[in-house]
Amino acid sequence: MEASPSSLPTQRRVASLARDGRLFHVILAQQFDRELIGTLCRLADMIRAVADTRHGSDFLRRQLCHKRAMLYFTQPSTRTFLSFAAACQIMGMPYNEVRDPKTSSEVKGESEEDAIRVFSQYFDVIIMRHPEEGFAEKAALAISGTRRPIPLVNGGAGKDQHPTQALLDIYTLYRAMAPAYPPGRPDFSDNPFDGKTIAFVGDLKRGRTVRSLVYLLTRYPGARMLFIAPDELQIGDDIVRYIRRYGVQYELRDDLGPSIAECDAIYMTRMQDEHDSHGESAKIDCSRFHLTGKMADSIKHTAAILHPLPRRYELDSAFDIDPRAKYWGQVRNGMWMRAALMAYIFNVDAAVIDHYYSECSD
Ligand code: NCD
Repeated sequence: MEASPSSLPTQRRVASLARDGRLFHVILAQQFDRELIGTLCRLADMIRAVADTRHGSDFLRRQLCHKRAMLYFTQPSTRTFLSFAAACQIMGMPYNEVRDPKTSSEVKGESEEDAIRVFSQYFDVIIMRHPEEGFAEKAALAISGTRRPIPLVNGGAGKDQHPTQALLDIYTLYRAMAPAYPPGRPDFSDNPFDGKTIAFVGDLKRGRTVRSLVYLLTRYPGARMLFIAPDELQIGDDIVRYIRRYGVQYELRDDLGPSIAECDAIYMTRMQDEHDSHGESAKIDCSRFHLTGKMADSIKHTAAILHPLPRRYELDSAFDIDPRAKYWGQVRNGMWMRAALMAYIFNVDAAVIDHYYSECSD
C-alpha cells in the first residue's frame, strides 16, 4: 500500500473517502459535519422506533439481507464487536468475523493487505479494528482503487480515532442534553452544546474515543471543553491546534475534583496501559482523575456522565443507578447508531424514513 495519507491536508483525506459526494468509507471523525451528524442521529432514532414492533423489525431486516459484512477485529474488543454484530442483525445483514490473524492465511505469510483484498471479494463492507493508526485509512484507499470497491468502516484505529464511537457519544449527548427528551425527540439540528462545559477525563493522550469526539464537537460553536488529565497523559497538541482553529474555548487541567461543579457533561476514560512500552502508566498517580461517589453531590443535577467502557476504578459503580449516568444507555445507543450508519452507507435510509413516517409517527 501507499505511504500513510495522514500527512495530507484533512480536506483531501476526507474527499478521498467519499464516493459520488456521499459518505462511503468511515475512517475519520472529520468526515462528519453538523448536517450529517444530525441525519444519522435522526435515522438512529427512527430505526429504534421501527425496530420496536415485529412488523418493523421484519421490515428492517429486509433492507440489507442482500449484503454481507466482514468484521475484521484484530485488536481486543467485545462491545464494539457485538455492537456492530447487533447492528448488522438489525438490518438483516449476515456477517462473518476474523478476530485472530493466527487463524487466517497470515500465518502462511499472506500480508494483511492481501487478506483485506480477499475479504473485499466475499463481502460488501469491511468493519475493522486495528492496532495500527492509519491502517484502516490506507486499506480503504487501496480498496477504492480495485475493481470491487467496498466501504471500510473504522471500528477503532490504534491510539488515533474511533469515529463510530464518537457518533454514538454525540447521539448520547444529544439525548441527554437537548431539551424535551422525553417525551419528544430532540431536534438534531439544534446545538444543545452552546454555552455548555464538557469535560474529558483520564488518559486523553492515548484514548482514541476522546480524540474523535472532540472533532465532532468542534462542529457545535459555543461548546467549552475541559481536558482533565495528568500532564503525561494530556490531550495531544494536534487536537489542541485543531480546536483552536475552530475558536473552541478550552482549558487543560490536572484535577477533576475542583472542576466537577462546572461540568454539564463528564466523559470519563480509563488508563490505556496496553500502549505502554515499559509499564510507565503504573507510575502515574491517577487518583485525581477518578469520579468518586463522594463527588455526587457536587455534580450538577442536570449533568450527563459518559464512559465508552470498559471501565476500571476511574468511575465509581455507585453512579450506576444515578439518573445522570448515561453510560449504559450509551452502549445501546451505539447499536442503533451503527445500524443507522449501515443503512446510510447502503442507501436504504430513505426507505427507513418512509417506513417510519407511514407506520410509526403520530
Ligand atoms: C474504547 C476503545 O476501544 O477505544 N472502547 C470501546 O470501543 N467501547 C475505549 C477503551 O478501550 O478504553
